[in-house]
Amino acid sequence: MDNTHILVTGGCGFIGSNFIHYMLSRYSARITNLDKLTYAGNLENLKAVETNPLYTFVKGDIAQAADLERLPDGIEVIINFAAESHVDRSITDPDAFIETNICGTYRLLEFAKQRSIKRFVQVSTDEVYGSLPESGKFTETTPLAPNSPYSASKASADMLAMAYHHTFGLPVLITRCSNNYGPFQFPEKLIPLMISNAIEGKELPVYGDGLNVRDWIHVEDHCEAIRLVAERGRVGNVYNVGADNEWTNIEIVKGLLDILGKPHSLIKFVKERPGHDRRYAIDNGKIKRELGYRAKKDFRQGLEETVKWYLENSEWWQRIKTGEYLEYYEKMYGGR
Ligand code: NAD
Ligand code: DAU
Repeated sequence: MDNTHILVTGGCGFIGSNFIHYMLSRYSARITNLDKLTYAGNLENLKAVETNPLYTFVKGDIAQAADLERLPDGIEVIINFAAESHVDRSITDPDAFIETNICGTYRLLEFAKQRSIKRFVQVSTDEVYGSLPESGKFTETTPLAPNSPYSASKASADMLAMAYHHTFGLPVLITRCSNNYGPFQFPEKLIPLMISNAIEGKELPVYGDGLNVRDWIHVEDHCEAIRLVAERGRVGNVYNVGADNEWTNIEIVKGLLDILGKPHSLIKFVKERPGHDRRYAIDNGKIKRELGYRAKKDFRQGLEETVKWYLENSEWWQRIKTGEYLEYYEKMYGGR
């Protein structure tokens, strides 16, 4: 990826900012980051690279053609992270999910077509496959069966992206990854919410019976997979990304409390998420076989490092857990 000009969209969010750090610390790629700075976008995530001459930030919306037209010439690769990403918000306020995840991806595909982009990576999710029973795993040929407005909007974007490949020959690649964890994750998602609440001595709200299963991967392992797919994936292909690491939610929450030395009595079982998918599990055989991919981070070590990061960066999440966040928290969890 050296000497390549990459447009990263949504680079001020959790995975996008980790990807920019990952790339700038390993390659001499030029990175332009287009981000709308929604509630989830945070310029602080990129403070360490803001003066790097290879890095440029542009505030803008992927759904606005005029914002895309302002982007510099010479972009060769687009990696589309920009999205509304939280399932619970898609249940209470789906509008922005349709706007950004579907209309925004469409605008970006049009932009890529006009600019003769060499590779377009659509960062998708395992949630487009729906929910699994107790056994089995998602492969790239599992039919799409999304269950939430979030996952339906991501599935729509995937289908549009693939249609641009088939119809216009746009060099599209799609990644579908499982649940990420690591530094800079917004404290609305399970792991950072539970860590920050536990540090503050607040209740830890576990939905339903706590036995839903997620397949966890460290964000840096996801970034490595995206880089590999962008560099060497076969255009027109989907690549699942996962680390063979399934846990129930209650196991995760108890594990975090144990790392922090906090009591399990902080756990509070609360009302179920509507339409809550029971289990996700990724078959990552294709990316291993074709691109030699291996997730590297040991889960126990990754969780301990993540807890340490939230302990050492409490100002980062305490600044977030004010204003709009408190209103959100009350709306989601008040009286639940
Ligand atoms: P995030 O919510 O932390 O960040 C999203 C970023 O996109 C923010 O910086 C936000 O400001 C920006 N953004 C939102 N709308 C925009 C728009 N219209 N134009 C430009 N920028 C916009 O999300 P994340 O967890 O980092 O997820 C990134 C991508 O990875 C998403 O596409 C998501 O679907 C996908 N994904 C996430 C996970 C996960 O576990 N978090 C797993 C698999 C796939
Ligand atoms: O699988 C990939 C997906 O993972 C990504 O596409 C999404 O962007 C990302 O948000 C994530 O979706 P989930 O819904 O799985 O993540 P979340 O962190 O919201 O929830 C993880 C599990 O924990 C889920 O079963 C719901 C449960 N949960 C979550 C929260 C926020 C709770 O029990 N309590 C909570 O307060």
